[in-house]
Amino acid sequence: MVTQFEEGITLDRFIFETTRDHPEATGRFATLLQQIALAARLISARVNRAGLAGMLGGTGEVNVQGEFVQKLDEYSNEVLKRALEHPGVCCMLASEEDEEPFIVPDRFATGPYAVCVDPLDGSSNIDVNATIGTIFGVFKRKSSTDVQGQVEDLLQPGTDLIGAGYVIYGSGTVFVLSTGNGVHGFTLDPTVGEFFLSHPNLRLAPRGTIFSVNEAYASQWPEGIRDYVRTLKEPDAGMSARYIGSLVADFHRNLIKGGIFLYPGTAAKPKGKLRLLFEGFPLAFLAEAAGGAATDGRGRLLERVPESIHERTPLIIGNRDDVADATRALSPEYVAS
Ligand code: AHG
Ligand code: MN
Ligand code: MN
Repeated sequence: MVTQFEEGITLDRFIFETTRDHPEATGRFATLLQQIALAARLISARVNRAGLAGMLGGTGEVNVQGEFVQKLDEYSNEVLKRALEHPGVCCMLASEEDEEPFIVPDRFATGPYAVCVDPLDGSSNIDVNATIGTIFGVFKRKSSTDVQGQVEDLLQPGTDLIGAGYVIYGSGTVFVLSTGNGVHGFTLDPTVGEFFLSHPNLRLAPRGTIFSVNEAYASQWPEGIRDYVRTLKEPDAGMSARYIGSLVADFHRNLIKGGIFLYPGTAAKPKGKLRLLFEGFPLAFLAEAAGGAATDGRGRLLERVPESIHERTPLIIGNRDDVADATRALSPEYVAS
């Protein structure tokens, strides 16, 4: 019998081979990805033992987003900061959990990359053992490496991302990564602590068959979204509905099976709930790299330039033609059929 090692490509080998071909290839980018993989293994182990290790439930605190902080949010955030202050890799890390970006403290350890993370996405699903994840995006810094990172290193358009990915802690732990050249998934073998290539070159066809949206807010959506979602429920539309409530899990399923995820703005919250830097940009980067699309309802999401690190955005993401239909339904000229 062939072992995984004999037939498989490890994440480390994949990172080495792909970053070597990168025009700006440096060992530092490979180290950055390896440090994220290290954080992912640590978080995955803690997620799996959460009920035993006293990691369920909240810390009693409220984060910068006004949301209750879960113990796993805090743990994941700390692990990522420790992993990414590795010398010579990052200058700063912006996290959904911290009001201010974390600047690599030792000036001599500062590196050429700025990273944005949602350390634990889907926190409301922790206590019910449903799938959660970690989302990240990587920018090349703008400021000089002679100084510590500046906020301008993070407030870059999504088109400037040089890599993005997520790790999903579900029935298995899967690391999904793109450095612009396709989207690839690696499954963790927890017995040896290694990620193996399991989903090479994930692609989104022009159309999917799943839609994911929290319909409880339907009465607050823009009319175009209500009309669009109604068309998806026509008998001949051939669609099915799935909504986990962890963006990373809903996106992952749609990436593998084909589908569209929508979290529109509402009259009261025109900017929606999801965060542009921590959730929108990284997943939009992956969707496009897989042949799909992502929009805020007005234009291509990756072309947005964030004004602040905690900026929110409406999000419509998935198969290209489905996203185009939803966007059309939001345009002022649209007339419901
Ligand atoms: P987080 O746990 O990082 O705060 O993100 C939660 C987000 C996202 O994962 C999910 O798609 C969305 O919240 C669900 O929101 P609703 O409960 O309003 O549908
Ligand atoms: Mn999230
Ligand atoms: Mn989160």
